[in-house]
Amino acid sequence: MLTKCLFPAAGYGTRFLPATKAMPKEMLPIVNKPLIQYGVEEAIEAGIHQIGFISGRGKRAVEDHFDISYELEHQIQGSSKENLLQEIRQVIDQCSFAYTRQIEMRGLGHAILTGEALVGRDPFAVLLADDFCVSDGPGVLAQMVRLFEEHACTVVAIEEVPRDATQNYGVIAGDEIAPGLFRVSEMVEKPAPADAPSNLAIIGRYILTPDIFDILRETPPGRGGEIQITDAIAKQAEHGRVLAFQFEGRRFDCGSLHGFVEATNFVYQTRFIGE
Ligand code: G1P
Repeated sequence: MLTKCLFPAAGYGTRFLPATKAMPKEMLPIVNKPLIQYGVEEAIEAGIHQIGFISGRGKRAVEDHFDISYELEHQIQGSSKENLLQEIRQVIDQCSFAYTRQIEMRGLGHAILTGEALVGRDPFAVLLADDFCVSDGPGVLAQMVRLFEEHACTVVAIEEVPRDATQNYGVIAGDEIAPGLFRVSEMVEKPAPADAPSNLAIIGRYILTPDIFDILRETPPGRGGEIQITDAIAKQAEHGRVLAFQFEGRRFDCGSLHGFVEATNFVYQTRFIGE
């Protein structure tokens, strides 16, 4: 049973300065809802209710968001605005939230290792909220949970990217064992197009088995001098214990201004004024 999801949320969001000078990038709204809330809702939809944030300095707004604001609630009680808080209240009611701090920025692998205190020895999901995903059917994490229940091994989400974009992603190679499902043989973090083993890029959804923590402890800094989760998962892949899955749905790279604006337009068009 998968019950826990980690949300690495310690990064600075420098691409969005000055907006992120005093506000965590995870709180940037797609229309009227912060990115991180979409992520938590995706986890809930996948049946996951124990939420762990890898937080850092300046991230208090995230903690406050997933808490009751008595003053505000009192203020709007009985008014038409009350229903605007309904969704976040439901999220808060359904989940438990735990926080730990990443003191130094040493990469995504290091952030996930910091989350060990919140996860223990259970399998767990990791969701990078700036990869904002939408789908007509079940959410991406729910699709992955289904595979995890069947195969009981690490699962990563992938999508095809243009060849010249491989240096922005972890890239996999493997055998396609079912349509859109690959048994991973190789994973490389941000390879130049000429060195990329494919154009299948990892996006920010992972289900990891807990042996990843022991592997991460032994993983030396890789690309960019940081401890990369891709390098640790590549070790699991050496033993055939990693699946990569081309999910149904669409991803917006909300870590970039372009993707963020596209996601905003998409959500506004489809959820606020109808398609
Ligand atoms: C991280 C991972 C990378 C993955 C990407 C997905 O990179 O290191 O393997 O493809 O997330 O968004 P980042 O975007 O944090 O540089």
